[in-house]
Amino acid sequence: MITKPKGTVDITGNDALLWEYINHLVETVMKSYNYEYIRTPIFESSELFHRSVGETSDIVRKETYDFKDKGDRNITLRPEGTAGVVRSYIENKLYASPDIKKYFYNGTMYRYERPQKGRLRELTQFGVEVLGSNSPTIDAEVISLAYRILELLHISNLQVNINSLGDEESRSNYKKALKKYLEPHLSELCEDCRERFKTNPLRILDCKIDKDGEILKNAPKTIDYLNKESKERFETVLKYLDILDIDYEIDPNIVRGLDYYDHTVFEIVSLDYNDTQQSVLGGGGRYNKLIKELDGPDSYGIGFACGIDRIVEILKNIDLYKDLKKEVECFIMYVSEEEKLHALDIAQNLRLNGVITETNHLDKGLKGQFKEADRLNAKYLIILNDEDLKKGLVNIKDNVTKEEEKIDIDEIVEYIIGSL
Ligand code: HAM
Repeated sequence: MITKPKGTVDITGNDALLWEYINHLVETVMKSYNYEYIRTPIFESSELFHRSVGETSDIVRKETYDFKDKGDRNITLRPEGTAGVVRSYIENKLYASPDIKKYFYNGTMYRYERPQKGRLRELTQFGVEVLGSNSPTIDAEVISLAYRILELLHISNLQVNINSLGDEESRSNYKKALKKYLEPHLSELCEDCRERFKTNPLRILDCKIDKDGEILKNAPKTIDYLNKESKERFETVLKYLDILDIDYEIDPNIVRGLDYYDHTVFEIVSLDYNDTQQSVLGGGGRYNKLIKELDGPDSYGIGFACGIDRIVEILKNIDLYKDLKKEVECFIMYVSEEEKLHALDIAQNLRLNGVITETNHLDKGLKGQFKEADRLNAKYLIILNDEDLKKGLVNIKDNVTKEEEKIDIDEIVEYIIGSL
């Protein structure tokens, strides 16, 4: 038997209903915030991720799926969505429009991680990227959008952990202070962190091994190194979050695992499900340097992504989602060959009119069809028989009240739509 690759999941049955529910809600809320759908390739040139997510990030150093295609090109399965959207913005000159660009996406990403609960190799994220505006109103909008989606999914006790990395000057001052502080402690840090000290010391702050140790707990905080402008910017974002009624906590240890961030960075957790590193439901931040670094104009960007796989794990525990039902509105039952022809025709008619319809495809007898209709929670049954059909009539049964009546075959669609 061939089995699925390590770190991937099959989504079927009730879980699939839950996924559909989430996808639908995400799309509805994104549209109400006026975000436009964008779809970029699942694989891109490897160079894109090296130059955006960063050579020194864990993702690029250890977790990408890389291969050479038959044309000897270096290709990488996307580990995240931001880089592709920014590439598309530049390549398609979407920046030429005078308006802000607000995109949302929902798709699979690939990271060669050690699989465990909430950590997969094929993961699905929904997210947004807003390009062309440096306004703190957008920082607040992006954070509140992520927060509201999770809230509308009934995830309790949400909290945004937020920090600011500041502008280039603030970051550079901070880096110096951090290096100075860490240097005497280097031997006490893990091997990766000793390497990070040389390449990108900020990365040390979110090391999975050293993160909770005393050394990092006492390390200087980015927030204390913000210059006046960066500090004011951060305070404005917080003020807007207050207005939008978002529960946040300033967390100076948030630096995020990708290299492209500056200014606002944030992660969202539910305090009720906050036991492991895999509890972070979503994260994001500003990346005002990235567009230029990828050979685009000097413009601005901010976004977030949430992991649907992690969200599903939480929703499965919530009663509300335990009886998401597959809903069939109409089940058409028949036995004879003549009845079958009518069933096919009626089913097609109902479907074209938007009624969720099923019929018998397994040559079952009537008893078996009644059982199948019940399993499908069919609201109405259309029970065909040759004698009624000759008179142009069909038997319709309300499968909840069990009331039955005969109606004209030409009135089926009107009847069902009027009764649903
Ligand atoms: P990220 O923090 O790497 O950010 O991922 C965002 C979310 O994706 C995480 O909070 C988590 O819920 C989910 N996630 C990440 N890795 C896994 C995994 N192995 N298994 C299951 N879920 C996972 C980004 O990807 C940035 N592109 C977000 C962003 C958009 N920043 C600006 N714009």
